[in-house]
Amino acid sequence: MGVGGNETTMTDLLDTDAPRATDRLADPLWWRDAVIYEVYPRSFADGNGDGTGDLAGVRQRLPYLADLGVDAVWFTPWYASPLADGGYDVADYRTIHPDFGTLEDAEALIADALALGIRTIVDVVPNHVSREHEWFRAALAAGPGSAERERFWFRPGDAAPTHWESNFGGETWTRLPDGDWYLHLFDAAQPDLNWAHPDVRREHEEVLRFWLDRGVAGVRIDSAALLVKDPALPEVPAHPRPGEHPNTDRDELHTIYRGWRSVTDAYTGAPGAVDGTRAGTTPAPGTRALVGEIWLEDTDRFTAYLRPDELHTAFNFDFMSRPWNARDLRDSITTTLAAHAPVGAPATWVLSNHDVTRPVTRYGRSASGFSFAAKRFGTPTDLALGTRRARAAALLTAALPGALYVYQGDELGLPEVEDLPLDALQDPMHRRSGGVDPGRDGCRVPIPWVGTEPPYGFSSDARGAVAADPAPTWLPQPADWAPYTVAAQERDPRSMLALYRDAIRLRRELLHHDESFAWLPSDDDVLAFRRGTLVCVVNTGDRPVPLPDHHDVLLASADTSDGTLPSDAAAWLAPEPNPTTQQRN
Ligand code: NOJ
Repeated sequence: MGVGGNETTMTDLLDTDAPRATDRLADPLWWRDAVIYEVYPRSFADGNGDGTGDLAGVRQRLPYLADLGVDAVWFTPWYASPLADGGYDVADYRTIHPDFGTLEDAEALIADALALGIRTIVDVVPNHVSREHEWFRAALAAGPGSAERERFWFRPGDAAPTHWESNFGGETWTRLPDGDWYLHLFDAAQPDLNWAHPDVRREHEEVLRFWLDRGVAGVRIDSAALLVKDPALPEVPAHPRPGEHPNTDRDELHTIYRGWRSVTDAYTGAPGAVDGTRAGTTPAPGTRALVGEIWLEDTDRFTAYLRPDELHTAFNFDFMSRPWNARDLRDSITTTLAAHAPVGAPATWVLSNHDVTRPVTRYGRSASGFSFAAKRFGTPTDLALGTRRARAAALLTAALPGALYVYQGDELGLPEVEDLPLDALQDPMHRRSGGVDPGRDGCRVPIPWVGTEPPYGFSSDARGAVAADPAPTWLPQPADWAPYTVAAQERDPRSMLALYRDAIRLRRELLHHDESFAWLPSDDDVLAFRRGTLVCVVNTGDRPVPLPDHHDVLLASADTSDGTLPSDAAAWLAPEPNPTTQQRN
């Protein structure tokens, strides 16, 4: 199919793929092993030529996502917002940011995606709102001691109430001219809500219903372990015991998420449940899922959020933080699967997202595990090495049991853009670090679709044709990205895009709803495991290793024609004859 959006129409796809779409949507357990594609709307595709991605652009590109084979799309916040933190500063959950479109566009997008068998997951940011949110504006206007301020963390005093450090670096309290301080675990533009206040709880459950009523199949919960604070506001202990940290992983959070689970369970089609959605929108059948953004080192505390009456899944950041070596990766996989088993929740596998360094850049570094603290300008990388490893990592994660997340552009092997002009950088992490941390803009550069120079077809007109005279993209794209465009990669059967498409299709054919997993004996530098009728082998060492006995090579990240698996490569093998599969590499 074409990438211009006008060569394959929605009608063509519906004609050819209608049974597939219906089958997929009938599956209430879709979330246990879904492939979920993360769209950062500002940077995915622009449907009106203004250089900023929008919902019209996503609608035009839905056939691309259907071809990739994803089950669901998670949209980072698309709501009204000053964009002080890329939309994670929500001013109004019931309005779409005008740069991205309208509520009608969102409803149409959700419905179009469902028609292709693709579910929608929205992002909810319960820890904080924008300074422009009506509650915060009311709190500012009402003044110290007012009831309006009780929805947030306002405190009087000459000094900040605590020395907590912001997740973006720097202080967590900002003083107003009227003398009160307010708490913000992120930027000052993102005041923290007080979750002990009944309005805060009620409003968020209403927001969930607002979007579930519009047919969304899931909700990604931002900063899910931070909502509750110790009202005594103590300092952070040097070594907090479990549940003792004053602003992270507090036990009261579990009650909140049990409440949220009751909300989503009411949409599952169970007896007595609310069935479907508002009149005029398309229902998303099956379970509505909650996925938590939870950064916790303690795996038992982490999986406590995944008990059967709480969240369905949570992002597994441990794997992403590990360096590229078999020992670390094996340990992460083993620990993750063991921690999830007792609560019956599936694991998730995440190579990156809109907050972290792109995998091909990260895996080309000598320190190849991700860490926010280590991000610095000028850290060298070997992109050829990183790309080989990212290809292998794609096959490794796609073979593991659980849900798989793919961040837009990783399927194209896009590198982190590390030479953005300083005056183009927008991320508060960069500003708040005093310019030491390059921030997260480098993984948010607009996607290249077609052509040989910027903006690489990023902007289209209303008919889906490449825009004739588009505005510059909101972040500039590199001049050497022509080989990374979707169009270029569609012509190349060995491209990263081809590898991702093959892996997602084969994963569905061979592993759908198969949660089995068994390690196989291997060298120290090699990972080998069996999943149903598939064996996955990954060589992280620096020399080729013989492939284990097999009947077929189903898919490989590098050439295996001499019977060996090269360094930094992965292969999917069929150990026994399987009439439905054939070799691809
Ligand atoms: C996590 C989000 O992924 C990130 O982009 C955001 O800056 C913080 N939460 C604060 O909302």
